[in-house]
Amino acid sequence: MTPERRDQLTREAQATLRANDRGGYTQPTAGLYPFQWDWDAAVTALGWITFDEPRAWEEFRWLLKGQWHDGPQDGFIPHIVFHQRADSYFPGPDEWGTPKTDPPTSSISQPPLHATMLRWMWQRARDKAAAAQALREIVPAIARHHAWWYRTRDPQASGLVMTIHPWETGRDNAPSWDEALARVPRTTRPYQRRDLDHVAGSQRPTQDFYDRVVFLMDFNREANFDPGVIARECPFRVVDAAIVFILHRATSDLLALADELSIPIDAAALRAARARTEVAAPQLWSQTLGLYVNLDQVSGARIEQPVHGGFLSWYAGIAARTQAHTLSAWLDDAPFGVPSTRVGADRFEAQRYWRGPVWQHMNLLFEAGLREQGETALADRVRASSLALFDASGFHEYYDPLTGAGLGGTRFSWTAASWLHMRS
Ligand code: GLC
Repeated sequence: MTPERRDQLTREAQATLRANDRGGYTQPTAGLYPFQWDWDAAVTALGWITFDEPRAWEEFRWLLKGQWHDGPQDGFIPHIVFHQRADSYFPGPDEWGTPKTDPPTSSISQPPLHATMLRWMWQRARDKAAAAQALREIVPAIARHHAWWYRTRDPQASGLVMTIHPWETGRDNAPSWDEALARVPRTTRPYQRRDLDHVAGSQRPTQDFYDRVVFLMDFNREANFDPGVIARECPFRVVDAAIVFILHRATSDLLALADELSIPIDAAALRAARARTEVAAPQLWSQTLGLYVNLDQVSGARIEQPVHGGFLSWYAGIAARTQAHTLSAWLDDAPFGVPSTRVGADRFEAQRYWRGPVWQHMNLLFEAGLREQGETALADRVRASSLALFDASGFHEYYDPLTGAGLGGTRFSWTAASWLHMRS
């Protein structure tokens, strides 16, 4: 890539975040996603810190306006915070029906990237005094969120947190969820999808998928958002390896930040949770695929689908076993890897949501983990494919791993933020 092209992409990335800025929170993209999303916000703040430090800390402060503070859900950070009303998105706040109204939120979470992004932001920040002040506010709230994950999503202290909705995994439509979702009844109530107003149906989930995820949303509300009832009775309960690894890594970063800045948190409980996950992680290993995979908690079986979440084990610092060979083979088949599902697998679809396309923020996490664990050649390959995508197609929501074509939403915030973080 030429230096001119790099500068141009950087200007465009900054302009994308500015254009998507809604005064305190950044919408992922106009129209399709007009509110604040949890893991998008964490990645987007990583982009803001490269050129507007106060704005980066604001992103977190606004996200935390959505945190719940009472009862068994204490510490919960929802996957959407509805800071304002918009009709272009389904399901909006009335559909979720949560008791929290100022601002209203959804009732499920998303992969907890926060502490890791915060630590990277801390390392990058030039105004250390302002950064330390922000972190003293934010870190205790994130610690309560980790406590929420371990307490409500792993009530038996097995070491493997579960998730109770495909949207909670952040990788909504991944082939791993097909069987677990097929057990969920289809809703019979009427509702109006809005995503197809913005993106072609061939790149979005099917109607059958929507009918079942709407059922799960309603189940949550009918259970009165009680995590105990949900953990026992929700018809969709899976262990998502990506969430396990992201939480595990984030807990280490949380402990490190709290230690460095002398912020009081319950470090002993977090260390105990980490130790449990280290013991339990081998249950996720698929000998057949040479990859960490997901687990169906209802059937008790591993879900033998080749999806990219397992490649976060390096990032988590969990033994990667023979995964380097697996990743290398995946990259051989995908000129613009890392695909969300292995190219050529039964359920691979190059252009459909989470069933094949590449997401740049996932590449960013893969690359960081690979580099930290000394897998330099693989880290370089992942980086090269990310840069090629930025160069060819700019800041789309996701990309075709075979052609590099940009897909889904355009001028996408976390994609632009990933560029800003990765470019140097
Ligand atoms: C989609 C993605 C999810 C993301 C959201 C906003 O729902 O699957 O991961 O957080 O869009 O970008």
